[in-house]
Amino acid sequence: MNHPETLPQGVTPRIFSGIQPSGGLTLGNYLGALKRFVQKQDEGIETVYCLVDMHAITVWQDPAKLRHATREAAAGFIAAGIDPARSILFNQSQVSAHVELAWIFNCVARLGWMSRMTQFKDKAGANSENVSLGLYAYPALMAADILAYRATHVPVGEDQKQHIELTRDIAAKFNNDYGVNFFPLTEPVIEGAATRVMSLRDGTKKMSKSDPSDQSRINLTDDADTIAKKIRKAKTDAEPLPGSLDGLRDRPDARNLVNIYAALADMTPDAVITQYAGAQFGTFKPALADLAVAKLSPITTQMTRLMQDPAEIDRILGEGAARADAIARPIVDQVYDIVGMIRARR
Ligand code: AMP
Ligand code: TRP
Repeated sequence: MNHPETLPQGVTPRIFSGIQPSGGLTLGNYLGALKRFVQKQDEGIETVYCLVDMHAITVWQDPAKLRHATREAAAGFIAAGIDPARSILFNQSQVSAHVELAWIFNCVARLGWMSRMTQFKDKAGANSENVSLGLYAYPALMAADILAYRATHVPVGEDQKQHIELTRDIAAKFNNDYGVNFFPLTEPVIEGAATRVMSLRDGTKKMSKSDPSDQSRINLTDDADTIAKKIRKAKTDAEPLPGSLDGLRDRPDARNLVNIYAALADMTPDAVITQYAGAQFGTFKPALADLAVAKLSPITTQMTRLMQDPAEIDRILGEGAARADAIARPIVDQVYDIVGMIRARR
């Protein structure tokens, strides 16, 4: 991680990232985000992780399911190795600084910037007159999530790169409009073999919790049999694995399985290809299934155990929210000052 020389005064290295509790966590979330969140925590940098329930409701969420998914995601974080004593873990709606700063950013960001967001275009599709206003403003809330902590680095999957660039644009415009050097220009951290895990049914499509086919993804709640079955049935071609990564250039399904293997085993895709050069999928898929079960089953078991005590999960989220608020509140108060709001009740 590089630390730009020009960090505003008072800003120290800090990681922030978020995941939407709008359904179960997938292998994509685990490899692209969660596993790397744990690595950052273990490197000893200050880490703030947020279940972004306010983002989730930009599309319809059944209230009971949202509550369940938020607790389940929290259990997934802890089971994957997030230690609530070392990282701050909380749900977004408990810290009001996020939406307060989001409103200010709604007034900084330009309509043209928002219209260029590919995630919005994908989600709205042909239906853009009929989606919520919140879905359109979503990236300004995401910028607020990050900048309410003046976070310097954000680990995410490849699909979030454009949103982090927008966050930098908002920070730069705010600093420039108000003549301050207050917000850092946050760096995305997109690294590892699995920054874009693809669907098991179609190697050209992202693995997603919203894909209608459950066969397309591995869920962190899947049991060992289900994981093994899904991998055995994953779409591939009839060729054996090549001797070098170059040979996978036009084979997205095969490339995806190699990337998943590499990320799970903490190897490079190159090393995986060297090990399995010439192997048929009849050999490679069972090896991948064994590896996936060995890595994921302990997490699934621990999640199930944690979900038996929802009150304890709520307690952890409440404690995390209090610690998050202690950082974000003074930052957003300074923003109000900079903008010219009278704060007489302090
Ligand atoms: P979301 O589930 O959309 O809230 O995403 C939460 C985090 O997981 C973000 O950092 C995403 O970039 C990452 N992520 C989601 N799906 C994938 C995927 N298929 N491959 C890699 N990263 C992913
Ligand atoms: N938009 C992100 C996603 O869909 C989730 C998110 C919301 C996020 N706020 C964030 C990620 C802040 C990183 C930092 O994946």
